[in-house]
Amino acid sequence: MTNGCDNLLLNGKHALVCGSSKGIGRATAKLLAARGAEVTLLARSVDVLAELVKEIEAAGGKARALAADLDDRAGLSKILEAFVAEAPPVHILVNNTGGPPGGPLLAAETEAMETALGRHLFASHLLVQALLPGMQSAGYGRIINVLSTSVREPIPNLGVSNLTRAAVASWAKTISSELPPGITINNVLPGFTDTERLGSLKEATATRLGKSADEVRDGWLAQIPEGRLAEPEETAEAVAFFASPAGAYIRGHSMPVDGGRLRSI
Ligand SMILES: NC(=O)c1ccc[n+]([C@@H]2O[C@H](COP(=O)([O-])OP(=O)(O)OC[C@H]3O[C@@H](n4cnc5c(N)ncnc54)[C@H](OP(=O)(O)O)[C@@H]3O)[C@@H](O)[C@H]2O)c1
Repeated sequence: MTNGCDNLLLNGKHALVCGSSKGIGRATAKLLAARGAEVTLLARSVDVLAELVKEIEAAGGKARALAADLDDRAGLSKILEAFVAEAPPVHILVNNTGGPPGGPLLAAETEAMETALGRHLFASHLLVQALLPGMQSAGYGRIINVLSTSVREPIPNLGVSNLTRAAVASWAKTISSELPPGITINNVLPGFTDTERLGSLKEATATRLGKSADEVRDGWLAQIPEGRLAEPEETAEAVAFFASPAGAYIRGHSMPVDGGRLRSI
């Protein structure tokens, strides 16, 4: 007799969570570990990752750190080559990293677009190419991309982010029909989520509009039927579902976790 939740558990699975030193990535790594996965934490802040490894282990989980800069494609390729040779096969890949700076698209330098596409799209592509053979031999693969609601509705003054998310969403949908059975790819679209990234966006928006940070926050809350910001742990729940055996028949999907802010069906 089971309690009906067994297919949400991740025992015996190995998850690589990118951007896991902070925010949504950190909450995701902790949740996947709590559900039974061994987690590899990837980010640039080695010391922060080392502390998180200790925290996860103290809670009874299994974790290791992998220092990498997703802006450095040549470096990432070398790191992945060594990682694939040494670590157990990865069953779950969470593509997540720092969002691009704000600003209107018309004013953006092409270099800023290249940087954002490199960090979000090309790095995810390299990760999938490196880890797919391990998923195939394990007969289990889950790729989850943390994008933004701007995949559905572009967000004013986040021009480079909007175009980058659209590119990643199209990449993901395209390869969702190329991946073999048992290996899925899906997108989680966070709404306003209470992380460091949102804090900097709030300050930048307040300066741009000549408002206080509280006024900006109130303006955001007024758009959200749920009436509050998301906690990163709530976004992580959607990632954990796609990562689990329970998500086996869902592929190429984009799931907003936005408290109902998107108006489109
Ligand atoms: N928070 C929101 O309201 C919200 C809404 C919509 C979409 N999103 C998107 O969701 C994603 C996560 O958001 P968040 O709020 O959790 O962001 P965050 O708090 O800024 O965390 C970003 C994470 O990415 C890592 N990172 C940044 N640049 C990296 C690089 N070059 N190489 C490797 N790792 C890198 C950071 O670690 P290190 O600095 O240690 O490398 C950190 O762990 C972002 O793409 C964000 O734009 C967030």
